[in-house]
Amino acid sequence: MKRRMAIKLSLMALASSYVMAYDKSKIVNTIKMKKKDPAKPEKGELKHTPDITMGEVDAKGYVTVEVNIGEEGIIHPSTADHWIYKIELYADGKKVAQVDLEPEISRGYLSAKVKKEGLKELRAVSSCNLHGDWENILKV
Ligand SMILES: [Fe+2]
Repeated sequence: MKRRMAIKLSLMALASSYVMAYDKSKIVNTIKMKKKDPAKPEKGELKHTPDITMGEVDAKGYVTVEVNIGEEGIIHPSTADHWIYKIELYADGKKVAQVDLEPEISRGYLSAKVKKEGLKELRAVSSCNLHGDWENILKV
């Protein structure tokens, strides 16, 4: 019983020490954005679009999925006033992973293991505090 209480108290202390460092008032744009001309994307559009890649499938049938922000090697900045604060990953419409990111300390990247069998579509959404939400879809 004492051990259980000690574990419970440790978990409570850990939970209370977790604090988001960034100021939420810096998130000034949550509009769903789109490339004006997908055939000729602008640099600013490429910089915000999730680049979804699939890697190896493990022994349990899960594929490594990586999401980098953004495309064609143009990496979105992570500064005190401009950064990707969230990335969501959906597999066939169901959210399977999310990361919350801190300015300067972390940049727009997510990695997850997703069950490969029957998988048809991966969709990722990146959220920039200044330039809104950008999505990309990878057909499997
Ligand atoms: Fe941005």
